[in-house]
Amino acid sequence: MTQQHIPLAGVIGSPIAHSKSPQLHGYWLKTHGIAGHYIPMEVAPEDLETVLRTLPKMGFVGVNITVPHKVAVLDIADLVTDRATLIGAANTLIFRQDGKIHADNTDGYGFIENLKQNAPNWDPTAGPAAVMGAGGAARAVVASLLDVGVPEILLSNRTRIRAEVLQQDFGARVRVVDWVKVGNMLEEAVTVVNTTSLGMIGKPELRVPLDGLQKGALVTDLVYAPLQTRLLREAEEMGCVTVDGLGMLIYQAVPAFERWFGHRPDVDANTRAAVLR
Ligand code: ATR
Repeated sequence: MTQQHIPLAGVIGSPIAHSKSPQLHGYWLKTHGIAGHYIPMEVAPEDLETVLRTLPKMGFVGVNITVPHKVAVLDIADLVTDRATLIGAANTLIFRQDGKIHADNTDGYGFIENLKQNAPNWDPTAGPAAVMGAGGAARAVVASLLDVGVPEILLSNRTRIRAEVLQQDFGARVRVVDWVKVGNMLEEAVTVVNTTSLGMIGKPELRVPLDGLQKGALVTDLVYAPLQTRLLREAEEMGCVTVDGLGMLIYQAVPAFERWFGHRPDVDANTRAAVLR
């Protein structure tokens, strides 16, 4: 009789205690009746490669990668998808049967899927998108917006040089706008995205002029704690369509769960509740 292996997956980062991924994957494993485990793992940078080479031998089928390892993991992986290379970071690893580590980035998929599911009338091709921030999260957002046919991305960051580097990597459809002119940039956009950490619990609010926002524009925030940021609250009051950031966290996990455990997980109100618990 052949022995049935229980598939293992998890998330690697440092610190890792705050990660919502174990709750999410644990919820899906339970509700879909899958015998598997998803484990948070605190790993220091100097141990990353050793850990990644050992986990497949212990029954792991893959892992999520989070801060501070999302960039470093590209040098360890044997295969890296084009989109992870373009973004310059990976969040999902597949441990293949042949021993190779395959790195991908599903953040952009999660970002777009959250908008498609929660704002079904959103048309990304209808006009420019305004993106605030130029960190790692912004790179995934910009790549995915270009993929779905946004005609132009207006990009503004407190530290202008970071936005300029991003513009060089992503090309002519990205235009850098000075942070002092962020209000003017928002007036032009049919899609508005906050990728900065401002508005998160423990950080200052994002204070940018919102009075020029177009009625009917789609406004979304990558921040999900709190769910309702000042940006989303004020945009909603002005008649914009708003989508919070929790769905991005959930949808970026869907392709990974499917690859690892062989079942496409459901996303509904119960999934959100499970993550928020
Ligand atoms: P992530 O990878 O999650 O995007 P990050 O690389 O640290 O994280 O980027 C955080 C983003 O929030 C950056 O765009 C940062 O702007 P800088 O590049 O100027 O640092 C932005 N940010 C953080 N604090 C800010 C503040 N007080 N005002 C404006 N932008 C801020």
